[in-house]
Amino acid sequence: MLSRQIADKLRAFETPFYLYDLSLLRQTLESAVSVANKYGYVIHYAIKANFDPRIIAIIREYGLGIDCASGNEVRCAIEAGFDPSVIVYAGVGKRDKEIRYALEQGIYAINCESLQELELIDKIAGELGKVQPIGLRINPDIDPKTNKCIDTGQADSKFGISYEEVIANIDAIKELQHVKVAGMHLHIGSQIRELHVFEYLCEKVNSIVSHLSSLGLDFGFIDVGGGLGINYDFPENEPVPNFASVFAIINSHLKTGGRPVHFEFGRAIVAQCGELITSVLFNKTTATGRKLVIVDGSMTELIRPALYGAYHNIENITSRAQERERYTIVGTACESTDVFDEGITLPRTQRGDLLTIKSAGAYGMSMASRYNLHDLPSAVYSDDIK
Ligand SMILES: Cc1ncc(COP(=O)(O)O)c(C=O)c1O
Repeated sequence: MLSRQIADKLRAFETPFYLYDLSLLRQTLESAVSVANKYGYVIHYAIKANFDPRIIAIIREYGLGIDCASGNEVRCAIEAGFDPSVIVYAGVGKRDKEIRYALEQGIYAINCESLQELELIDKIAGELGKVQPIGLRINPDIDPKTNKCIDTGQADSKFGISYEEVIANIDAIKELQHVKVAGMHLHIGSQIRELHVFEYLCEKVNSIVSHLSSLGLDFGFIDVGGGLGINYDFPENEPVPNFASVFAIINSHLKTGGRPVHFEFGRAIVAQCGELITSVLFNKTTATGRKLVIVDGSMTELIRPALYGAYHNIENITSRAQERERYTIVGTACESTDVFDEGITLPRTQRGDLLTIKSAGAYGMSMASRYNLHDLPSAVYSDDIK
Protein backbone atom coordinates (compact mmCIF):
# COMPACT_ATOMS: atom_id res chain seq x y z
CA MET A 1 0.00 0.00 0.00
CA LEU A 2 1.20 3.51 -0.81
CA SER A 3 2.38 5.41 2.26
CA ARG A 4 0.55 8.58 3.25
CA GLN A 5 3.73 10.54 2.46
CA ILE A 6 3.90 9.24 -1.12
CA ALA A 7 0.15 9.70 -1.58
CA ASP A 8 0.48 13.38 -0.65
CA LYS A 9 3.35 13.81 -3.11
CA LEU A 10 1.21 12.35 -5.87
CA ARG A 11 -1.01 15.42 -5.66
CA ALA A 12 1.66 17.24 -7.66
CA PHE A 13 0.79 15.24 -10.80
CA GLU A 14 -2.24 15.64 -13.03
CA THR A 15 -4.56 12.63 -12.79
CA PRO A 16 -5.24 10.12 -14.15
CA PHE A 17 -1.72 8.73 -14.49
CA TYR A 18 0.12 5.46 -14.24
CA LEU A 19 2.47 5.16 -11.29
CA TYR A 20 5.27 2.64 -11.79
CA ASP A 21 7.25 1.15 -8.94
CA LEU A 22 10.57 0.53 -10.69
CA SER A 23 12.15 -1.14 -7.69
CA LEU A 24 9.36 -3.74 -7.70
CA LEU A 25 9.93 -4.21 -11.43
CA ARG A 26 13.64 -4.85 -10.77
CA GLN A 27 12.79 -7.25 -7.94
CA THR A 28 10.41 -9.14 -10.25
CA LEU A 29 13.00 -9.38 -13.02
CA GLU A 30 15.66 -10.47 -10.54
CA SER A 31 13.40 -13.29 -9.39
CA ALA A 32 12.37 -14.39 -12.91
CA VAL A 33 15.91 -14.33 -14.29
CA SER A 34 17.60 -16.02 -11.34
CA VAL A 35 15.21 -19.01 -11.43
CA ALA A 36 15.24 -19.20 -15.23
CA ASN A 37 19.05 -19.29 -15.21
CA LYS A 38 18.97 -22.24 -12.86
CA TYR A 39 17.28 -24.28 -15.61
CA GLY A 40 18.83 -22.53 -18.62
CA TYR A 41 15.43 -21.16 -19.69
CA VAL A 42 15.11 -18.16 -22.00
CA ILE A 43 12.51 -15.47 -21.21
CA HIS A 44 11.07 -13.12 -23.82
CA TYR A 45 9.08 -10.23 -22.43
CA ALA A 46 5.68 -9.89 -24.17
CA ILE A 47 5.99 -6.22 -25.05
CA LYS A 48 2.25 -5.92 -25.70
CA ALA A 49 1.78 -5.89 -21.93
CA ASN A 50 3.49 -2.52 -21.60
CA PHE A 51 5.84 -0.73 -23.99
CA ASP A 52 6.72 2.20 -21.71
CA PRO A 53 10.30 3.12 -22.72
CA ARG A 54 11.66 3.22 -19.16
CA ILE A 55 10.12 -0.14 -18.38
CA ILE A 56 11.52 -1.83 -21.44
CA ALA A 57 14.94 -0.27 -20.87
CA ILE A 58 15.04 -1.92 -17.42
CA ILE A 59 13.82 -5.22 -18.87
CA ARG A 60 16.69 -5.06 -21.38
CA GLU A 61 19.21 -4.60 -18.55
CA TYR A 62 18.14 -8.00 -17.22
CA GLY A 63 18.84 -9.73 -20.53
CA LEU A 64 15.33 -10.76 -21.52
CA GLY A 65 14.36 -11.18 -25.16
CA ILE A 66 11.12 -9.80 -26.59
CA ASP A 67 7.89 -11.39 -27.80
CA CYS A 68 5.97 -9.23 -30.29
CA ALA A 69 2.46 -9.22 -31.71
CA SER A 70 2.92 -6.80 -34.61
CA GLY A 71 5.51 -5.32 -36.93
CA ASN A 72 5.41 -2.10 -34.94
CA GLU A 73 6.19 -4.01 -31.76
CA VAL A 74 9.20 -5.56 -33.50
CA ARG A 75 10.26 -2.04 -34.54
CA CYS A 76 9.74 -0.71 -31.02
CA ALA A 77 11.90 -3.49 -29.56
CA ILE A 78 14.69 -2.91 -32.07
CA GLU A 79 14.60 0.85 -31.51
CA ALA A 80 14.82 0.17 -27.77
CA GLY A 81 18.10 -1.64 -28.41
CA PHE A 82 17.04 -5.31 -28.40
CA ASP A 83 19.01 -7.42 -30.83
CA PRO A 84 16.80 -9.03 -33.51
CA SER A 85 18.29 -12.39 -32.49
CA VAL A 86 16.29 -12.25 -29.22
CA ILE A 87 12.96 -11.28 -30.79
CA VAL A 88 10.06 -13.62 -31.57
CA TYR A 89 6.91 -12.52 -33.35
CA ALA A 90 3.49 -14.22 -33.11
CA GLY A 91 0.11 -13.05 -34.35
CA VAL A 92 -2.83 -14.64 -36.05
CA GLY A 93 -3.06 -12.04 -38.81
CA LYS A 94 0.32 -10.70 -39.84
CA ARG A 95 0.21 -8.23 -42.72
CA ASP A 96 2.57 -8.73 -45.68
CA LYS A 97 4.54 -5.60 -44.80
CA GLU A 98 4.95 -6.78 -41.19
CA ILE A 99 6.27 -10.16 -42.33
CA ARG A 100 8.67 -8.47 -44.75
CA TYR A 101 9.95 -6.14 -42.04
CA ALA A 102 10.50 -9.01 -39.58
CA LEU A 103 12.32 -10.99 -42.27
CA GLU A 104 14.55 -8.05 -43.14
CA GLN A 105 15.50 -7.64 -39.49
CA GLY A 106 16.47 -11.30 -39.14
CA ILE A 107 14.56 -12.02 -35.92
CA TYR A 108 15.01 -15.24 -33.94
CA ALA A 109 11.68 -16.74 -35.03
CA ILE A 110 8.37 -15.84 -36.57
CA ASN A 111 5.79 -17.87 -34.68
CA CYS A 112 3.47 -18.92 -37.43
CA GLU A 113 -0.27 -19.42 -36.90
CA SER A 114 -1.66 -20.87 -40.16
CA LEU A 115 -0.55 -22.79 -43.22
CA GLN A 116 -1.35 -19.87 -45.49
CA GLU A 117 0.86 -17.68 -43.34
CA LEU A 118 3.65 -20.25 -43.60
CA GLU A 119 3.40 -20.20 -47.39
CA LEU A 120 3.41 -16.40 -47.43
CA ILE A 121 6.51 -16.23 -45.20
CA ASP A 122 8.17 -18.74 -47.51
CA LYS A 123 7.30 -16.62 -50.56
CA ILE A 124 8.48 -13.31 -49.09
CA ALA A 125 11.63 -14.91 -47.66
CA GLY A 126 12.32 -16.31 -51.15
CA GLU A 127 12.01 -12.82 -52.65
CA LEU A 128 14.51 -11.58 -50.07
CA GLY A 129 16.83 -14.53 -50.63
CA LYS A 130 16.50 -15.64 -47.00
CA VAL A 131 15.62 -18.73 -45.01
CA GLN A 132 13.54 -17.68 -41.99
CA PRO A 133 13.44 -19.74 -38.78
CA ILE A 134 9.86 -20.17 -37.69
CA GLY A 135 8.09 -21.58 -34.67
CA LEU A 136 4.95 -23.54 -35.52
CA ARG A 137 2.25 -22.32 -33.15
CA ILE A 138 0.27 -25.47 -32.58
CA ASN A 139 -3.10 -25.29 -30.87
CA PRO A 140 -2.87 -27.92 -28.11
CA ASP A 141 -6.58 -27.88 -27.16
CA ILE A 142 -6.07 -27.25 -23.46
CA ASP A 143 -8.44 -25.42 -21.13
CA PRO A 144 -6.20 -22.91 -19.32
CA LYS A 145 -8.83 -22.38 -16.59
CA THR A 146 -8.87 -18.64 -16.92
CA ASN A 147 -11.26 -15.88 -17.98
CA LYS A 148 -12.68 -17.04 -21.33
CA CYS A 149 -11.83 -13.66 -22.89
CA ILE A 150 -8.11 -14.42 -22.52
CA ASP A 151 -8.17 -18.15 -23.25
CA THR A 152 -6.22 -18.92 -26.44
CA GLY A 153 -5.49 -22.64 -26.27
CA GLN A 154 -8.76 -24.48 -26.91
CA ALA A 155 -9.56 -26.22 -30.19
CA ASP A 156 -12.03 -23.61 -31.41
CA SER A 157 -9.70 -20.66 -30.77
CA LYS A 158 -8.51 -18.40 -33.58
CA PHE A 159 -4.94 -18.88 -32.37
CA GLY A 160 -2.47 -21.45 -33.65
CA ILE A 161 -2.64 -24.23 -36.23
CA SER A 162 -4.60 -27.37 -35.46
CA TYR A 163 -2.39 -30.37 -34.86
CA GLU A 164 -4.45 -32.39 -37.35
CA GLU A 165 -3.73 -29.81 -40.05
CA VAL A 166 -0.01 -29.99 -39.35
CA ILE A 167 -0.06 -33.79 -39.68
CA ALA A 168 -2.12 -33.65 -42.88
CA ASN A 169 0.33 -31.19 -44.45
CA ILE A 170 3.60 -32.38 -42.99
CA ASP A 171 5.24 -33.18 -46.32
CA ALA A 172 4.33 -29.82 -47.81
CA ILE A 173 5.72 -28.08 -44.71
CA LYS A 174 9.00 -29.97 -44.97
CA GLU A 175 9.35 -29.06 -48.64
CA LEU A 176 9.22 -25.29 -48.14
CA GLN A 177 12.59 -23.84 -49.19
CA HIS A 178 12.67 -20.49 -47.45
CA VAL A 179 11.33 -21.30 -44.00
CA LYS A 180 12.98 -23.60 -41.54
CA VAL A 181 10.74 -25.06 -38.86
CA ALA A 182 13.05 -24.21 -35.98
CA GLY A 183 10.71 -24.62 -33.06
CA MET A 184 7.32 -25.38 -31.64
CA HIS A 185 5.32 -22.56 -30.10
CA LEU A 186 2.30 -22.53 -27.81
CA HIS A 187 0.51 -19.93 -25.76
CA ILE A 188 -2.65 -21.23 -24.17
CA GLY A 189 -3.94 -18.15 -22.41
CA SER A 190 -3.27 -15.48 -19.85
CA GLN A 191 -3.77 -14.99 -16.10
CA ILE A 192 -3.34 -18.72 -15.43
CA ARG A 193 -3.49 -19.28 -11.68
CA GLU A 194 -4.14 -23.03 -11.66
CA LEU A 195 -0.58 -24.04 -12.37
CA HIS A 196 -1.36 -27.74 -12.94
CA VAL A 197 -2.57 -26.55 -16.36
CA PHE A 198 1.13 -26.25 -17.27
CA GLU A 199 1.50 -29.98 -16.51
CA TYR A 200 -1.15 -30.78 -19.16
CA LEU A 201 0.64 -28.43 -21.50
CA CYS A 202 3.90 -30.36 -21.04
CA GLU A 203 2.16 -33.70 -21.62
CA LYS A 204 0.67 -32.39 -24.87
CA VAL A 205 4.01 -30.97 -26.01
CA ASN A 206 5.80 -34.24 -25.20
CA SER A 207 3.45 -36.27 -27.32
CA ILE A 208 3.35 -33.75 -30.20
CA VAL A 209 7.15 -33.37 -30.32
CA SER A 210 7.71 -37.12 -30.21
CA HIS A 211 5.08 -37.85 -32.88
CA LEU A 212 6.24 -35.10 -35.24
CA SER A 213 9.88 -36.13 -34.82
CA SER A 214 8.94 -39.68 -35.80
CA LEU A 215 7.41 -38.16 -38.96
CA GLY A 216 10.63 -36.30 -39.70
CA LEU A 217 9.66 -32.83 -38.41
CA ASP A 218 12.04 -32.03 -35.63
CA PHE A 219 12.09 -28.91 -33.51
CA GLY A 220 15.13 -27.00 -32.32
CA PHE A 221 13.37 -25.10 -29.55
CA ILE A 222 10.18 -25.32 -27.52
CA ASP A 223 8.44 -22.03 -26.71
CA VAL A 224 5.72 -22.57 -24.12
CA GLY A 225 4.42 -18.98 -24.26
CA GLY A 226 3.41 -16.84 -21.31
CA GLY A 227 0.31 -16.88 -19.18
CA LEU A 228 1.58 -16.95 -15.62
CA GLY A 229 -1.08 -15.21 -13.54
CA ILE A 230 -0.77 -12.67 -10.77
CA ASN A 231 -2.69 -11.98 -7.56
CA TYR A 232 -5.21 -9.25 -8.45
CA ASP A 233 -7.24 -9.85 -5.28
CA PHE A 234 -4.46 -9.17 -2.77
CA PRO A 235 -1.49 -7.74 -4.66
CA GLU A 236 0.40 -6.88 -1.47
CA ASN A 237 0.46 -10.59 -0.55
CA GLU A 238 2.19 -11.55 -3.79
CA PRO A 239 3.95 -8.59 -5.38
CA VAL A 240 6.33 -10.93 -7.24
CA PRO A 241 4.63 -13.79 -9.10
CA ASN A 242 5.57 -17.38 -8.51
CA PHE A 243 8.11 -17.95 -11.28
CA ALA A 244 9.80 -20.73 -9.31
CA SER A 245 6.66 -22.90 -9.33
CA VAL A 246 5.98 -22.66 -13.03
CA PHE A 247 9.63 -23.30 -13.93
CA ALA A 248 9.73 -26.30 -11.57
CA ILE A 249 6.63 -27.76 -13.24
CA ILE A 250 8.10 -27.33 -16.71
CA ASN A 251 11.41 -28.76 -15.54
CA SER A 252 9.84 -31.88 -14.12
CA HIS A 253 7.22 -32.51 -16.84
CA LEU A 254 8.64 -31.35 -20.15
CA LYS A 255 10.78 -33.82 -22.07
CA THR A 256 13.03 -31.32 -23.79
CA GLY A 257 15.49 -33.77 -25.32
CA GLY A 258 18.09 -31.05 -24.76
CA ARG A 259 16.11 -28.42 -26.73
CA PRO A 260 16.18 -24.85 -25.41
CA VAL A 261 12.94 -23.83 -23.66
CA HIS A 262 11.54 -20.33 -24.13
CA PHE A 263 8.88 -18.43 -22.18
CA GLU A 264 6.98 -15.27 -23.12
CA PHE A 265 5.82 -13.57 -19.95
CA GLY A 266 4.02 -10.26 -20.08
CA ARG A 267 1.62 -9.81 -17.18
CA ALA A 268 3.82 -11.62 -14.67
CA ILE A 269 6.68 -9.19 -15.35
CA VAL A 270 4.90 -5.83 -15.25
CA ALA A 271 1.37 -6.05 -13.83
CA GLN A 272 2.16 -5.55 -10.16
CA CYS A 273 4.58 -2.67 -10.65
CA GLY A 274 1.92 -0.38 -12.11
CA GLU A 275 -1.17 1.29 -10.71
CA LEU A 276 -3.58 3.83 -12.10
CA ILE A 277 -3.97 6.88 -9.89
CA THR A 278 -7.24 8.71 -10.40
CA SER A 279 -9.07 11.54 -8.61
CA VAL A 280 -12.66 11.57 -7.46
CA LEU A 281 -14.69 14.10 -9.42
CA PHE A 282 -18.20 13.63 -8.03
CA ASN A 283 -20.45 11.52 -5.85
CA LYS A 284 -24.05 10.78 -6.68
CA THR A 285 -26.72 8.27 -5.78
CA THR A 286 -28.94 6.57 -8.36
CA ALA A 287 -32.72 6.38 -7.96
CA THR A 288 -32.15 2.75 -6.97
CA GLY A 289 -29.83 3.76 -4.13
CA ARG A 290 -26.48 2.87 -5.71
CA LYS A 291 -23.78 5.23 -4.44
CA LEU A 292 -21.58 6.16 -7.34
CA VAL A 293 -18.08 7.55 -7.13
CA ILE A 294 -17.21 9.18 -10.45
CA VAL A 295 -13.45 9.30 -11.02
CA ASP A 296 -11.46 11.13 -13.68
CA GLY A 297 -10.01 7.87 -15.05
CA SER A 298 -12.00 5.61 -17.33
CA MET A 299 -11.89 2.64 -19.68
CA THR A 300 -9.78 4.82 -21.98
CA GLU A 301 -6.87 4.53 -19.50
CA LEU A 302 -7.64 1.03 -18.20
CA ILE A 303 -10.05 -1.03 -20.29
CA ARG A 304 -9.67 -4.43 -18.61
CA PRO A 305 -12.73 -4.19 -16.31
CA ALA A 306 -14.99 -2.99 -19.16
CA LEU A 307 -13.54 -5.38 -21.75
CA TYR A 308 -13.16 -8.60 -19.77
CA GLY A 309 -15.00 -7.98 -16.51
CA ALA A 310 -11.52 -8.08 -14.96
CA TYR A 311 -11.07 -7.29 -11.27
CA HIS A 312 -8.62 -4.72 -9.91
CA ASN A 313 -8.28 -3.96 -6.23
CA ILE A 314 -9.08 -0.30 -5.53
CA GLU A 315 -8.10 1.78 -2.52
CA ASN A 316 -8.66 5.35 -1.41
CA ILE A 317 -5.15 6.57 -0.60
CA THR A 318 -5.98 9.98 0.81
CA SER A 319 -9.21 9.72 2.80
CA ARG A 320 -8.77 10.00 6.56
CA ALA A 321 -12.42 9.16 7.28
CA GLN A 322 -13.22 6.45 9.82
CA GLU A 323 -16.68 5.63 8.38
CA ARG A 324 -16.78 3.17 5.51
CA GLU A 325 -19.37 3.01 2.75
CA ARG A 326 -20.24 0.82 -0.22
CA TYR A 327 -19.59 2.41 -3.61
CA THR A 328 -19.62 1.67 -7.29
CA ILE A 329 -16.60 3.25 -8.96
CA VAL A 330 -17.33 4.55 -12.45
CA GLY A 331 -15.29 6.37 -15.07
CA THR A 332 -15.85 9.35 -17.32
CA ALA A 333 -16.29 7.54 -20.65
CA CYS A 334 -19.61 7.65 -22.42
CA GLU A 335 -20.22 3.89 -21.99
CA SER A 336 -22.34 2.04 -19.42
CA THR A 337 -19.67 -0.65 -19.09
CA ASP A 338 -17.15 1.94 -17.93
CA VAL A 339 -17.26 0.68 -14.35
CA PHE A 340 -14.08 -0.11 -12.39
CA ASP A 341 -15.84 -2.03 -9.62
CA GLU A 342 -19.26 -2.47 -8.03
CA GLY A 343 -20.25 -2.43 -4.38
CA ILE A 344 -16.79 -2.06 -2.85
CA THR A 345 -16.27 -0.78 0.68
CA LEU A 346 -14.01 2.24 1.05
CA PRO A 347 -13.52 4.91 3.71
CA ARG A 348 -15.94 7.78 3.02
CA THR A 349 -14.86 8.98 -0.41
CA GLN A 350 -15.40 12.44 -1.82
CA ARG A 351 -14.35 14.95 -4.45
CA GLY A 352 -10.58 15.41 -4.57
CA ASP A 353 -9.67 12.06 -2.98
CA LEU A 354 -7.08 9.98 -4.81
CA LEU A 355 -7.88 6.36 -5.60
CA THR A 356 -5.38 3.76 -6.73
CA ILE A 357 -6.47 1.00 -9.10
CA LYS A 358 -3.83 -1.63 -8.45
CA SER A 359 -2.05 -4.28 -10.56
CA ALA A 360 -2.50 -2.17 -13.68
CA GLY A 361 1.03 -2.35 -15.11
CA ALA A 362 0.07 -4.95 -17.74
CA TYR A 363 -2.48 -4.36 -20.48
CA GLY A 364 -3.25 -0.95 -18.97
CA MET A 365 -1.36 1.81 -20.74
CA SER A 366 -0.71 -0.41 -23.75
CA MET A 367 -4.48 -0.73 -24.33
CA ALA A 368 -5.26 2.93 -23.64
CA SER A 369 -7.26 4.75 -26.28
CA ARG A 370 -8.32 8.26 -27.16
CA TYR A 371 -12.05 7.46 -27.19
CA ASN A 372 -14.05 10.59 -26.34
CA LEU A 373 -10.83 12.38 -27.32
CA HIS A 374 -9.44 11.80 -23.87
CA ASP A 375 -5.75 12.57 -23.45
CA LEU A 376 -3.53 9.52 -23.05
CA PRO A 377 -2.46 9.13 -19.42
CA SER A 378 1.05 10.09 -18.41
CA ALA A 379 3.50 7.97 -16.41
CA VAL A 380 5.12 8.77 -13.07
CA TYR A 381 8.03 6.63 -11.87
CA SER A 382 8.81 5.82 -8.26
CA ASP A 383 12.49 6.68 -8.86
CA ASP A 384 11.49 10.29 -9.63
CA ILE A 385 9.37 10.91 -6.52
CA LYS A 386 11.58 12.65 -4.00
C1 LIG B 1 1.76 -15.31 -28.11
C2 LIG B 1 1.72 -14.68 -26.76
N1 LIG B 1 2.77 -14.86 -25.95
C3 LIG B 1 2.80 -14.28 -24.72
C4 LIG B 1 1.75 -13.52 -24.26
C5 LIG B 1 1.85 -12.91 -22.89
O1 LIG B 1 0.92 -13.44 -22.05
P1 LIG B 1 0.95 -13.09 -20.49
O2 LIG B 1 0.88 -11.62 -20.38
O3 LIG B 1 -0.25 -13.76 -19.96
O4 LIG B 1 2.21 -13.66 -19.93
C6 LIG B 1 0.63 -13.33 -25.08
C7 LIG B 1 -0.50 -12.54 -24.57
O5 LIG B 1 -1.47 -12.27 -25.21
C8 LIG B 1 0.61 -13.91 -26.36
O6 LIG B 1 -0.43 -13.75 -27.18
